[in-house]
Amino acid sequence: MTFLRWVEFDADLPTDGYPFTLPVVAALRAAGRLRLDPRVTFLTGDNGTGKSTLIEAIAVAAGFNPEGGSVNFRFATRSTESPLGRYLRLVRSPGKPQTGYFLRAESFYNVASEIDRLGVGRGYGGRSLHERSHGESFLDLATHRFGPHGLYVLDEPEAALSVPGCLALIARIHDLVAAGSQFVIATHSPVLLAVPGALILRLSDDGVISEVDFDDAEPVALTRSFLADPQRFLRHLF
Ligand SMILES: Nc1ncnc2c1ncn2[C@@H]1O[C@H](COP(=O)(O)OP(=O)(O)OP(=O)(O)O)[C@@H](O)[C@H]1O
Ligand SMILES: [Mg+2]
Repeated sequence: MTFLRWVEFDADLPTDGYPFTLPVVAALRAAGRLRLDPRVTFLTGDNGTGKSTLIEAIAVAAGFNPEGGSVNFRFATRSTESPLGRYLRLVRSPGKPQTGYFLRAESFYNVASEIDRLGVGRGYGGRSLHERSHGESFLDLATHRFGPHGLYVLDEPEAALSVPGCLALIARIHDLVAAGSQFVIATHSPVLLAVPGALILRLSDDGVISEVDFDDAEPVALTRSFLADPQRFLRHLF
């Protein structure tokens, strides 16, 4: 089931200040809209190209707490979210997600605290996420709290995960997609990008967003080339 089909950007988006001056925001203003895959969309691109800015805006427009959590989370430890979410419209399919989560790598700790505060830990494998390692708690959440017909917006989930952890997440995503869930994920992980059939969007430094194949995605191509001959890269670095 598709929940989000397109993200549409107002032509009258402001032009001053962060995030409106980012090349990717200018490109989206010009393009007017961004297509999302009914199942899994990845945002890739170098550091600072605007993936987190865009993914947070999509999450906010979808009704999530800007710092993360389910749509019921309303905690705020700081207010640094960009106002971009107010200027985009999500074109949705009929039907509402039955569940969902927005997770940012930086604020997972605060999400775990909120889960403890709400006393809903049992839904997450029975233990406080603070008593689990970063990766264990992330996988607890994906295993016990992510469910069918959900919308999941994730920023660098691999930050918590080992390579086997990434493979476990791929399996979970695969099952949840088969059960009608949709994912939008910012990632640098060449492993995670292997989710079958995913739409991979590349954000470039000049703001251009293009659809790329798995083999052409930079995390995949560059990691592959590095691992084939690390010394060749290191000679250029030192
Ligand atoms: N609150 C803010 N105020 C001003 N500039 C910001 C703010 N947050 C991010 N930026 C800038 O906006 C640009 C895009 O940041 P963003 O976090 O979206 O990048 P990213 O693609 O997610 O990068 P990374 O791969 O490192 O996570 C960066 O140049 C960053 O310095
Ligand atoms: Mg980021």
